[in-house]
Amino acid sequence: MTNTLTIRRPDDWHLHFRDGDIMRGVVPYTARQFGRAIVMPNLSPPVTTTALAREYRDRIIAAVPDGVEFTPLMTCYLTDTTDPDDLAMGASDGVFTAAKLYPANATTNSAHGVSDVEKIYPVLKRMEADGIVLCVHGEVTDNDIDVFDREAEFIDRHMRAIIANFPNLKVVFEHITTSDAVDFVNECGSNVAATITPQHLHINRNAMLVGGIQPHNYCLPVAKRETHRLALRAAATSGSAKFFLGTDSAPHLRSVKETSCGCAGIFNAPFAIESYLAVFEEEGALDKFEAFASLNGPAFYGLAVSEESITLERVAVHVPDMLDLTGEDIVPWHAGQTLNWRIAG
Ligand code: NCD
Ligand code: ZN
Repeated sequence: MTNTLTIRRPDDWHLHFRDGDIMRGVVPYTARQFGRAIVMPNLSPPVTTTALAREYRDRIIAAVPDGVEFTPLMTCYLTDTTDPDDLAMGASDGVFTAAKLYPANATTNSAHGVSDVEKIYPVLKRMEADGIVLCVHGEVTDNDIDVFDREAEFIDRHMRAIIANFPNLKVVFEHITTSDAVDFVNECGSNVAATITPQHLHINRNAMLVGGIQPHNYCLPVAKRETHRLALRAAATSGSAKFFLGTDSAPHLRSVKETSCGCAGIFNAPFAIESYLAVFEEEGALDKFEAFASLNGPAFYGLAVSEESITLERVAVHVPDMLDLTGEDIVPWHAGQTLNWRIAG
């Protein structure tokens, strides 16, 4: 039995840090585990310009604990009126690593998102030319489409057209939740990849709805049927370079999760690596973990892999029921459960 695993230091290719006190509370959890993270721009107001991203990056860096190496990689929130020149300048100045497409009203703080994907085609053309990665929240928002079908529908309505019109654009299909998305990404060329969250590897939609409504298992895109979860597990542990780690850690205080209209988002940053590792162990794929966590992401983004390493050891860790964030309760992913691995040291 394997009892320790040493891998290059992993990166998180999709998460939410928020801002202000919450940000200062959550950044240390991520910086403990990951060398870099792609930071989502869905603040209120969103991070839409190079100037805003530069300031936000400075605030994040100020929240990294002393002695910890961590680099936030910033994203530009695309809107109907994004200036391609500002985005290109931000990318060439090293401020932006990617740009994020939120369909308007798809998820938390996405009211300013893109109302019609074709409206940003001039921006996508520029991104393709300049090699700027497009991160996509792939869900349609139409009321007549069932929430469980919104990802698959997005592929047919928008993803295929984006890829066909911009064949050299690098696209990350974010936090995929369906076998449809796995199949789509596998059919595309090497310029199309996907991130997978720990929660979508662990739970199906029953975890949200059986035995009472479970707000801490609710995120967007919502967990789907078991067949989809199994397809995601197969993809993540396949060794394919197209799939990599993106936690989508999305902190919301307990008070706004446990309420009549609870926020979407799962706060998985505190035990993210431990959570993923449980899946790879269950699938008998510990040998594939480093590629998923530490190698595939940098290769896709054209960045160097980490020169640092971390060691994971088979020691049980108990996840608390609750954590304190700025004097308020927040419920972590796996609350109250025991995980089999922890980060050594
Ligand atoms: C995210 C958030 O809260 O910002 N929520 C979520 O359920 N994942 C937004 C997002 O990534 O969709
Ligand atoms: Zn997200």
